[in-house]
Amino acid sequence: MKIYQVGGSLRDELLGLPVADRDWVVVGASPQQMIDAGYRPVGRDFPVFLHPRTHEEYALARTERKTAPGYTGFVFHSAPDVTLEEDLLRRDFTINAMARDADDAAAPIIDPHGGRADLAARVLRHVSPAFAEDPVRILRGARFAARFGFAVAPETLALMRRMTGAGEVDALVAERVWQELSRGLMYANPQAMFELLERCGALGRIIPEITQTAPDGPPMRPLTMAARHGMTLAQRYAALCAWLAPAAVKVMSERLRAPAECRELALLAARQRDALLHAGHLDAAQLAELVRVTDGLRQPGRFRSLVQVVGAVAEGACPPVDYGRAKARVLAAFQAFRNVDAGRIAATLAAPAQIPDALRQARESAVAAALEEAGLL
Ligand code: CTP
Repeated sequence: MKIYQVGGSLRDELLGLPVADRDWVVVGASPQQMIDAGYRPVGRDFPVFLHPRTHEEYALARTERKTAPGYTGFVFHSAPDVTLEEDLLRRDFTINAMARDADDAAAPIIDPHGGRADLAARVLRHVSPAFAEDPVRILRGARFAARFGFAVAPETLALMRRMTGAGEVDALVAERVWQELSRGLMYANPQAMFELLERCGALGRIIPEITQTAPDGPPMRPLTMAARHGMTLAQRYAALCAWLAPAAVKVMSERLRAPAECRELALLAARQRDALLHAGHLDAAQLAELVRVTDGLRQPGRFRSLVQVVGAVAEGACPPVDYGRAKARVLAAFQAFRNVDAGRIAATLAAPAQIPDALRQARESAVAAALEEAGLL
C-alpha cells in the first residue's frame, strides 16, 4: 500500500496558502486492508476512509464512469491495481491533479498533467475528457476563478460550453449549486464566478433571473464592491440581487434554496434600493415609514446590513451614486425611531385604538428633530 497527498491541499500549499484539511489517495490497498489498519469507512458512493487519529480523508485510488446525466449517475472502479496516474486522470483541473509521496514532504511533485505550469500561468485547464462526466466541475471552475483570479484555458471553456449545451447543468441539485455559489461569493473576486458561468452559458440555466436584467450582461459591480468591503454572505447575495425585481429575487432564492438570512436581505434590497439610494430627498414621514416597513425596530442588525448593501449598490452604479447624505439621513432617522418609547406613549392614551396614530406621529417628530439637529433636514 502506498499513500499520496493529492488535490486541493497540495495546490494550496504550492500557492503558499494555508491548508485546512488534506486529502490522501491510497494505491494498492483493498477496503478490508484499510479497515484492518484502523481506518473508518465513510464513503457512501466511493471507498473513502477516515484516518483513526487525524480524521483526514483517505480515498482508495479509483476510476469513474458516468452512467446518467447530473451529479449522481456514477459507477466507480476501485481495486488495488488502479494506479496513481489513473486516479489523477479522472480529476477535474490540472492544478488539482498533482500528488506527493505521503512519507516524504521533500519528494518531487508527481504532476503528469502539467499542474505546476498551469499554477504558474494562472490557468484552469481540464485534465481529460472525463471532466465532462461531472457538471459540478463547471461550478467548481467558476469558484476557483473567483478565488484565484485564474483564466480558463480556451479548450476548457469550449468543453464547459458543450456540457452546458447538452443540458448537463440542468440536472444539478439546488443544494450543490448553492454550496458552490455561496463559497464563491465569499472569495475576493466573486464577480469572476458569474462571469465565467455567463461565458460558458451556464448562468442562464442556473440563475436566468440575473441574465435577464440588462442587455449588456448582469450588473456585477455592487457585488464587487460588497466583496471589497468584506461584507457577509447575505450582504453579497443581496448586492448580487439588488438590481432585480423583488418577484425575481423570490423565485431565484427559492429555487437555489438560499438560507432565510440571504433571501430576506436580498428581498429587502430589491424592494427598498431606490428609497434608500434617494433618501436624501425623503421627508421625515417617509424616512420613518422606511424604517417601519423594513422592520428596523425588531431587526436593527439587518437594517444596518441593508444600509451597507445599498452603499455597495451606490458605489457600483454607473455612474456611481453619491450616497453619503442619504445614508446619514437614514441612520439618523433609524436611531431617532428606535429611541421613541412606545410604552410611555401608550400609557398616556385613553384608548388602545389611538396608539398607532400617536406612535406614528411621535416617530415622525423624533425623526424630524434628529434631522434638524444633525443639519440634515
Ligand atoms: N475533485 C474532482 N471533481 C470534483 C470534486 C473533486 O476531480 N467534482 C477532485 C480534485 O482533484 C480535488 C479533490 O478531488 O482537488 C478534492 O476535492 P475537494 O476537497 O472537494 O476540493 P478541493 O480541490 O480540495 O478545493 P477546495 O479548496 O475548494 O476544497
